[in-house]
Amino acid sequence: MKRALILVNAFLRLKAAMNQPIRLKEELNKLGVEVDIEPNSINTAMIMDGKPLSFLQGYDFVIYLDKDKYTSVLLERTGLRLFNSHKSILVCDDKMETHIKLSGHGISMPDTIPGLFCYYENASIKETLPRIALIEGKLGYPCIVKECYGSLGAGVYCAKNRDELLSLMEKLKCKEHLFQKMIIGSKGRDVRVIVIGGKVVSAMQRISETDFRSNIELGGRAEPFELPQSFKEICERTANILKLDYCGIDLLFGESGEPLVCEVNSNAFFGAMESVTGINVAEKYARYIYETIY
Ligand SMILES: Nc1ncnc2c1ncn2[C@@H]1O[C@H](COP(=O)(O)OP(=O)(O)O)[C@@H](O)[C@H]1O
Ligand SMILES: [Mg+2]
Repeated sequence: MKRALILVNAFLRLKAAMNQPIRLKEELNKLGVEVDIEPNSINTAMIMDGKPLSFLQGYDFVIYLDKDKYTSVLLERTGLRLFNSHKSILVCDDKMETHIKLSGHGISMPDTIPGLFCYYENASIKETLPRIALIEGKLGYPCIVKECYGSLGAGVYCAKNRDELLSLMEKLKCKEHLFQKMIIGSKGRDVRVIVIGGKVVSAMQRISETDFRSNIELGGRAEPFELPQSFKEICERTANILKLDYCGIDLLFGESGEPLVCEVNSNAFFGAMESVTGINVAEKYARYIYETIY
């Protein structure tokens, strides 16, 4: 019997997050794979007698829709195949890590400066004057400030002047964050592309009339988008560099309309993509996994 497990976050109860495992289960069932969907609060893995130990028995693979890094690495250490792999999820979860990993491979991205990590709540931002000068000199205003572990647009900010920059630096100083050139031509507009097994399967454009962030969760609307070859190529190269089985890549429009990689989501929701494009993303992912495993 063919059997799979889909693990979801122990706490997340967003409707969009629950649609994902249900759709994947449906499509895997059609291929003859039995699927359990469980939250990561079930007994998954631990270290016993100094060795990784998995409590999961009889599964051919796990679709890991969580980002909990300790469980994912332990499961892999016990020999289970995870979609996506622990390493790929880890790199994508941290926006700065993603940029570092993609740099030097000829992938166009907005100029990016890492934020400095502060250990003391009462430390002064003024200690970092050279870094402020670098941000102003290389990025200018307005610039983008991002929490490295944010998602759904929630940890992405815009600083229009030094006062706003300093107040964001103060707010984020004890969290991982980064500074980025604002891609003006892409204000409130980006492209989301789904890549499976290194091949683009669907794309849509997201537009917001009210916010520089085009996330649907913040009121952006989505429409189909005919992907130019250069957009396709940058996405497939990005997914291959990061060794992702599945991902959603956000692209910005550069000055001449060329694509720039904004971020890579290893656990991208595909509900909106399926309804906007009519493409059955879950079926394509299920088929890719099936062919990889069996
Ligand atoms: N450098 C940038 N220039 C212009 N717009 C940006 C930039 N970075 C992000 N955005 C906008 O903000 C949105 C959210 O940023 P993103 O990095 O994708 O974070 P999240 O993980 O929260 O979606 C993007 O979809 C895009 O519309
Ligand atoms: Mg995004």
